[in-house]
Amino acid sequence: MKVYLTEKEGQIDFFDKFAIDWRNNPVLVDNTDGVWKGNILEFKLNISNINKVLFQTIKYLSKMRIKGESIPYNIILISLNDWCAYVFNSKDYFEEIHKVYYGAASKNNDAFIAKSTPNKIDYSYQEGAYNLLSLLREEKYTPIDLDENCIVGWAERYYRENPKATKGDFLGDDDTSSKTLGEIREPRHFKSLINPYKKKSNEKFKYLMDKLNDRLNKKDLGAFYTPIPYCIKAKELVEIAISRVPIGNDYIILDRCAGTGNLESILSEAQLSHCILSTYEYYEYKVLCERLGEKVRAIIPPIEMEDTYDRGFVKCADAMSKEYLDNPIIKKYLDDEKCTIILYENPPYRDDTSGMTGIKSEGKKINSYVLEQMKINGISKTNELANRFIWSAFKYYLRQENDSYIVFSPIKYWKIDKLINKRFRKGFLFNKKYFHASPSAIACILWENVNENIDEISLEALEINNELAIYSDDMSATRVTNEITKIFDKKIREHAKIKYSCKTDGNFEPNEIGSYYDNEILGYFVGRGFGISNPNLNFNLVRLRFSDNHGFYVTLNNYYKKMIIISIKHYLMFCRDWKENEFICCSTDRGFDYEKDNELLKRAFIFGCLDYYNKCKSQELLVDGKPTIIKNELCFDENTVASKKLATLSLNKDERQLLDLFNRLIGEAKKVPEYNSKYTYGLYQIADDLNTYYKDENDNKVYNHPELNSYLEALRKKTDAYFDKYIKDKLYEYELIK
Ligand SMILES: C[S@@+](CC[C@H](N)C(=O)[O-])C[C@H]1O[C@@H](n2cnc3c(N)ncnc32)[C@H](O)[C@@H]1O
Repeated sequence: MKVYLTEKEGQIDFFDKFAIDWRNNPVLVDNTDGVWKGNILEFKLNISNINKVLFQTIKYLSKMRIKGESIPYNIILISLNDWCAYVFNSKDYFEEIHKVYYGAASKNNDAFIAKSTPNKIDYSYQEGAYNLLSLLREEKYTPIDLDENCIVGWAERYYRENPKATKGDFLGDDDTSSKTLGEIREPRHFKSLINPYKKKSNEKFKYLMDKLNDRLNKKDLGAFYTPIPYCIKAKELVEIAISRVPIGNDYIILDRCAGTGNLESILSEAQLSHCILSTYEYYEYKVLCERLGEKVRAIIPPIEMEDTYDRGFVKCADAMSKEYLDNPIIKKYLDDEKCTIILYENPPYRDDTSGMTGIKSEGKKINSYVLEQMKINGISKTNELANRFIWSAFKYYLRQENDSYIVFSPIKYWKIDKLINKRFRKGFLFNKKYFHASPSAIACILWENVNENIDEISLEALEINNELAIYSDDMSATRVTNEITKIFDKKIREHAKIKYSCKTDGNFEPNEIGSYYDNEILGYFVGRGFGISNPNLNFNLVRLRFSDNHGFYVTLNNYYKKMIIISIKHYLMFCRDWKENEFICCSTDRGFDYEKDNELLKRAFIFGCLDYYNKCKSQELLVDGKPTIIKNELCFDENTVASKKLATLSLNKDERQLLDLFNRLIGEAKKVPEYNSKYTYGLYQIADDLNTYYKDENDNKVYNHPELNSYLEALRKKTDAYFDKYIKDKLYEYELIK
């Protein structure tokens, strides 16, 4: 009998002898020594401990179940140099196959004891060889139970093998009124491969399925996850961070919010072996373990215990908790001076004014230790969840200069919130559209853990095309200090008060707080923060005081200089380029410099009085019980404060054309029955009150006064063009937009 020197040699010889066509078929799969028809094979030169080899094979079967692969009925362990095979039936190890094992299948198998006696086949004789050959021709499988560990794998296989199938075809449950039983409850495609799922509802799977839509159906990618082309790009930053690891040091790549592990999924095996990952949401954790559990250094928690599932979350994995900060697995590396720390994260970004961590729980309120610590440390910008991750990264994890942080986040944390002063190494700007959010910019930056004050950084903006991240532009980000409120005019003498104020739509409402009003008061500007989000709400010009205090009165004294705020709002609202969205903001870092530019003041005044988003309206109200009309003074209708001012200015051709168009619009407005001759009208009120319409059977708007509507549209286009030509660049020049 031939004696083999290596397993490989014996294995190939065995395949050839028993007509296992491993060259043209997927036989060497899933790290096994071979899967052929209904058989899983495990070769050893000499099997001295059957239990150990059996357990190793059971672990492979467990992994196959998780991946949605059919479970061979025969487990055949081959002792090559004995020419002997031990045959077990996988059905006898049903329970063991349904467990989840982490780590290498060949390790820690000593304690296992077989539950059944194997059928021993000596295949050095003809009869034995014949029996083994017959077994190897069998196509029999052990049907498995579906659970949350393997449902994704089976779903993926189902969709792969049934490309037109819907989610309902697979998941359809007992609760639906149509009573369509899906594949999992009535296996047809997987008949004899899976056992029918007995639970009435998909409750346990539902959340998992939502989270895993991306894996089932690419179109339904969750808004959270980083698209692979951007992961590949971000990997460049990981590699730079690794190159900073001093010779002789170990390093870890820590991702506290790994989700389902997209960022890491494209790292090399060697890089993965340094990764420590966790995520707070339970079903993401399941996928993470399934996807990367075997390849990474650790997942936290490393194995699932009885109490790991905590109402939709993973116990001990809330990265913002004290418990997580004290995690012994991570701590071991942090305490090791010869270990470099690389944090690599795409934290959840969302404003969380309520103090919750941000993910919806089943009624569970989560306290954030990091949030408390930020407050204790005097950090005010705590609402944004990403800020808590970023702040805590530097506070608790990065200790040496060679440590690095690669973080995905809208640039606000650096540009406005000034959460960190670290050395910028390299960065990208990605389009959130590909994260299935609306188009806007998310920065991905490698920060070195070296204190440094810089005011400007340049990021390479990348689009995705044909599954590749493609260079689009270089975007420079400059830090901002002063909010728009710096140019607010808060000096106001006591004026008469009336018991009305304005709503965001510009309409008056009776109100106890009321508003100052007399002939000097022309409006009220509302302005909050840096206008990075929702400029339509955060910047408003209305006729009377707005119902909160974030603004100032526009008066005869200040209106001409303050009209620029309408231009700022316009810019923020209409920067349609994704690279500017959530990237630029307003500032007053050059203070009142713009006021010295008379030409700009004139342009901003003309634009502000014509723009649709100047929401000043003429309206009637009761003052001391008497009906009183408060006119809109900041429009170019007859005899308003603004039109009198306009008469004193010299206008260029474009401006005269604009005014001419406005006058024709007013002419049309006067023909409309809803027109009130006691009012003065700006564009907004004409559009809102006079340009009435109804909806036809196809839900299309049909305007009652088409001529008026045409003039409105024409004027809007003209004012937009005027803005682009005369104002836009000036806003940058005076750092009103930054
Ligand atoms: C923007 S996603 C990024 C996921 C993944 N890293 C990727 O890029 O595809 C943020 C992740 O943070 C997780 N998360 C949210 N709050 C968390 C917390 N307090 N602790 C740990 N993970 C959290 C979410 O479940 C989500 O998967």
